[in-house]
Amino acid sequence: SIKIVNKLKKILVTGGLGFIGSHTVVELQNEGFEVVIIDNLSNAEEKVLHGIEAITGQKPIFENLDLREKEAVRAFFKKYNDIAGVIHFAASKAVGESVENPLLYYENNINALVYILQELQSKPGADFIFSSSCTVYGQAEKMPITEDASIQLAASPYGNTKQIGEEIIRDVAKVSNINAILLRYFNPIGAHPSAEIGELPIGVPQNLVPFITQTGIGMRKELSVFGSDYPTPDGTCIRDYIHVVDLAKAHVVALKRLIDKKNETAVEVFNVGTGKGSSVLEVIRSFEKVSGQKLPYKLVERRDGDVIEAYADTQKANSVLGWKAQSTLDEAIESAWKWEKKIRS
Ligand code: WQD
Repeated sequence: SIKIVNKLKKILVTGGLGFIGSHTVVELQNEGFEVVIIDNLSNAEEKVLHGIEAITGQKPIFENLDLREKEAVRAFFKKYNDIAGVIHFAASKAVGESVENPLLYYENNINALVYILQELQSKPGADFIFSSSCTVYGQAEKMPITEDASIQLAASPYGNTKQIGEEIIRDVAKVSNINAILLRYFNPIGAHPSAEIGELPIGVPQNLVPFITQTGIGMRKELSVFGSDYPTPDGTCIRDYIHVVDLAKAHVVALKRLIDKKNETAVEVFNVGTGKGSSVLEVIRSFEKVSGQKLPYKLVERRDGDVIEAYADTQKANSVLGWKAQSTLDEAIESAWKWEKKIRS
């Protein structure tokens, strides 16, 4: 069966113990791929390995190394010379922190990418999937956002590293046998329905949904809604919140497309979202419906750097990849809430 064929394929998942990475490892294993994880545990915990194994019954190979160490990356690819494809999640991703500490972001997010690509370019035909972000669009003029929307001047060093990363991959793919797909994520939320893995924010969550669930569980006093005077129906920002399992599945579909060499052009780009926009207040209502409890929140001033509105046009991913998000906002919020209650119990 296809699962046996996939067995022959060893896939490297960098940042594989992280939020999106771990959910993608589960879906790869479900499809019969053998997974090797590289993670330096700077924003993840090793116990995530047990969560993955609890779901799939398979414990991925785990190499604790830092992709900023060029020699360590080289040694890894010597040791694992049968890597058929790479899904590259490992990166720093806090927008605010990137403004405070740009060089940490340029070193981590760019050097690591360069060192991996240097190893892949000498291989006969490596498949490479890059974790990009809707942040490259900045405030797009038109909603929903299509892949050919203009790339705005990055609003943060973090966003810039994603734009630069895309350009590096395009340049390298032109002169090597690297087959690449860029996936531009919208807002990943939720957790695996088993509640064995989920988001583990360190410190005070910057993102909306983990802050909501931590408020719901009593860890935070109340949610601050950053801005209620935006030009949107209810005055709060609109985003495209996608269930992390739907996002994970998009990576497996994209990988299969590369393995089957179905991607005509050197590098393909896909928006990965639900195609539906939800405001902050709508997310709060969803949580209240799902949890059955009122969420304490207050309306405060806008947060610097926030765009007013961003939600995906997903026609390309739907038609070319043959992938479509399945979960509703309520289902995603329900999985996030189940996970929060589990880890605080
Ligand atoms: C969503 C909305 C906030 C917290 C970020 C990165 C993006 C990607 C996803 C990496 C905004 C509002 C939030 C809070 C609030 N990450 N909010 N109170 O900013 O859309 O995207 O995460 O790729 O690159 O920029 O997500 O969850 O931080 O905010 O009102 O306590 O919720 O203002 O409107 P964002 P977010």
